Amino acid sequence: MKLFLAGATGAVGSLLLPLAEASGHAVVPHVRPRSAAKSRLAQHPNACIADLGDTEAISAAMRGCGAAVCLVGTMRSRFSSGDSYEASDIGAVREVVTAAKLAGVPRVVLLSSLGAGGLGAYLQAKGEAERIVRASGLAYAIARPGAFASPEDAPQGLHGARHFPGFGKAFFAGLGAVGLEGFAHRYGPMPLDVLARALLRAAEGRADGCILHGDDLQRLAAS
Ligand SMILES: NC(=O)c1ccc[n+]([C@@H]2O[C@H](COP(=O)([O-])OP(=O)(O)OC[C@H]3O[C@@H](n4cnc5c(N)ncnc54)[C@H](OP(=O)(O)O)[C@@H]3O)[C@@H](O)[C@H]2O)c1
Repeated sequence: MKLFLAGATGAVGSLLLPLAEASGHAVVPHVRPRSAAKSRLAQHPNACIADLGDTEAISAAMRGCGAAVCLVGTMRSRFSSGDSYEASDIGAVREVVTAAKLAGVPRVVLLSSLGAGGLGAYLQAKGEAERIVRASGLAYAIARPGAFASPEDAPQGLHGARHFPGFGKAFFAGLGAVGLEGFAHRYGPMPLDVLARALLRAAEGRADGCILHGDDLQRLAAS
């Protein structure tokens, strides 16, 4: 399969791209023109270097893809660089969906967040992004992981967390110790390698119509 990968230069994209290629898929990594000079992905033979709002260029790059995977998002600390929730977490998703429909891509996979649609500008933006994907008419899968954890920090059988505060890590490990593994697996930190494997399975069409929390993502990754 051929996959279009928006957000390829990010933390999740950096794991998903080699995983997809090692699984035999051709990947078209998206690179923003403003990031091309500092990203080695700009040298990738299939790289699509264009703004996501350039529908003509993006849909041309998507042609023949079986899925468009959108990992795009930002955080408050990057607002000074010109990104915003409106542009990165909502607008980018709208642009990916528009180009996918034009290119005849049958499926969109969206990396959203635990709590999407909840309180606060970030979760509201994620909720709106999910609405756009669900209303697209395309097949879709939406991932709602909790906070990300680096693979090497994940203790056996329970999510670990490098990007997660020590207290949170201890909290979720404690839940496991008192028999609440189910809660911890669903809402606890998500190892990035597990997330990348699950997203790949979703791109392959194994989770169409699903909204996937941490435990769903673990099962999908293991399938
Ligand atoms: N961190 C967490 O704990 C967590 C938990 C749940 C969900 N999430 C969500 O997971 C997603 C991916 O996370 P991550 O850690 O991989 O993110 P990341 O490392 O910050 O990467 C973000 C990616 O989005 C791209 N991007 C941002 N704004 C863009 C725009 N307007 N147009 C095109 N590309 C744009 C960035 O490109 P450049 O390289 O050009 O900047 C980069 O490739 C995000 O949506 C995030 O909200 C995060």
